[in-house]
Amino acid sequence: MTSTTIPVLVTPTLDALGGYEDALARGWSPDPRRVGDAAYVEAELAALRSDRAGYLEKILSDPAPARSPSRAALVNHAFWIFDGEFAGKADLRYIPATGAVPDDIPGHVGFSVVPWKQGKGYATAALRALMKLARSKGLKTLHILCNIENMGSRIVIERVGGKPYHVGQHPSDLPEQWKAYYRVRL
Ligand SMILES: CC(C)(COP(=O)(O)OP(=O)(O)OC[C@H]1O[C@@H](n2cnc3c(N)ncnc32)[C@H](O)[C@@H]1OP(=O)(O)O)[C@@H](O)C(=O)NCCC(=O)NCCS
Repeated sequence: MTSTTIPVLVTPTLDALGGYEDALARGWSPDPRRVGDAAYVEAELAALRSDRAGYLEKILSDPAPARSPSRAALVNHAFWIFDGEFAGKADLRYIPATGAVPDDIPGHVGFSVVPWKQGKGYATAALRALMKLARSKGLKTLHILCNIENMGSRIVIERVGGKPYHVGQHPSDLPEQWKAYYRVRL
């Protein structure tokens, strides 16, 4: 299939799971906290291959890495970034009644672009698409977190209007990992 270089967000399906599988096989980590963690990526690949439908269900229902008491109320919109091929993932999560995310969930948004498609504006486009969706759901503000040293991510968040308001730890990650907290007005 040809690359279009105009990425869109698509809903993950079993038919297209092969693209996600190939990305894992090439070493892509779906969890931004575990980039370069070969054991984690291999375990994900094994889990996908042993139960493809179950793995898809996990992607669709629970992309947020942390557990939360408010889990039952949390809505996840899980997408794949697609340019004719699998290019990454982007998720929006929130509690409909409040528009907030539970304290132990690392922000409203998660995104990751496969390394071989980075630097083409895909994360920026995906984040803008999630913002549009969030607006349509009545959300007024997004809180987005990234590792303090993750310059690519910080550039993307600031490019869509993100304003930093805090630096600190987050319960979803190791205590030594400092996070930049951003607020994006919708
Ligand atoms: C961060 C990430 C999502 C960016 O995806 P991307 O599709 O490459 O992002 P974009 O192309 O939209 O924009 C990235 C910008 O940051 C720049 N950039 C990337 N890494 C950089 C770095 N280390 N230092 C400075 N600038 C950097 C790029 O050059 C680009 O700017 P440009 O358009 O002026 O060239 C991607 O690198 C990724 O998936 N990383 C691993 C997972 C992750 O960190 N997810 C985010 C969690 S919050």
